[in-house]
Amino acid sequence: MGLRGRWGGRAAIALCVGAGVWLLVTALRDGWGRADPVASVFGSVAGLAALVLALRAIPAPRPPVPRPVPPEVPEWWVDRDEADAVVRAVRRRTRRWRSGGSVAITAGLHGAGGFGKTTLAKYVAAQRSVQRRFPGGVHLVTIGRDVRGPAAVAAKVAEETRLITGDTVETGSDPERAGNHLGSLLAQRPRTLLVIDDVWEHEQLAPFLRGAPHSCVRLVTTRKT
Ligand SMILES: Nc1ncnc2c1ncn2[C@@H]1O[C@H](COP(=O)(O)OP(=O)(O)O)[C@@H](O)[C@H]1O
Ligand SMILES: [Mg+2]
Repeated sequence: MGLRGRWGGRAAIALCVGAGVWLLVTALRDGWGRADPVASVFGSVAGLAALVLALRAIPAPRPPVPRPVPPEVPEWWVDRDEADAVVRAVRRRTRRWRSGGSVAITAGLHGAGGFGKTTLAKYVAAQRSVQRRFPGGVHLVTIGRDVRGPAAVAAKVAEETRLITGDTVETGSDPERAGNHLGSLLAQRPRTLLVIDDVWEHEQLAPFLRGAPHSCVRLVTTRKT
């Protein structure tokens, strides 16, 4: 609640308390018959004022962030044995949550450049069964070699947070803080899949793994094992 909302709430409480005190004092001094009509008028005004102030204090609902358009499987796609295994692995994470079991939160694809990791991750993201399993959306986050150093990683996390959730709260240049913020927002969303592509360093990945163990699955591609 903002400053205005807080002061609005206090003013409403003050009005209600004022009405109560007025009623008590008048009733003790002049008797209940005199206090009753005054208190009714005072009470109604206080009630209306409290309602108006309370309504003003409710934050405007954020417009829903549209789900990303699923990637298209390219015409030249040649099926690979791993593809269905990865689709199953990503979907299985959510099934295990329902049965209450503990889960590893990250699935990984690793291999040299040109191995087909990005193509495979996009194939997984494009599957209708995967899209259906994640009502919070399937989000592709491309990291790459150039995102280096804490400030750049934090900025990347903030940018993706805005794209995924619409949130624009400033979290500064600390990747851990930015990651915690993203994690707390993901925890409030319907099940979401993050496809975190082209990770080069652990420092680039760590902030994206924070929080939301029950509502976010991460599929990571990296050259490193
Ligand atoms: N399943 C596939 N079928 C056909 N071609 C593929 C497939 N996977 C990858 N390729 C080819 O290999 C290239 C590199 O794949 P990419 O997914 O970008 O590799 P990586 O992300 O591992 O560097 C693609 O541009 C495409 O030409
Ligand atoms: Mg790639």
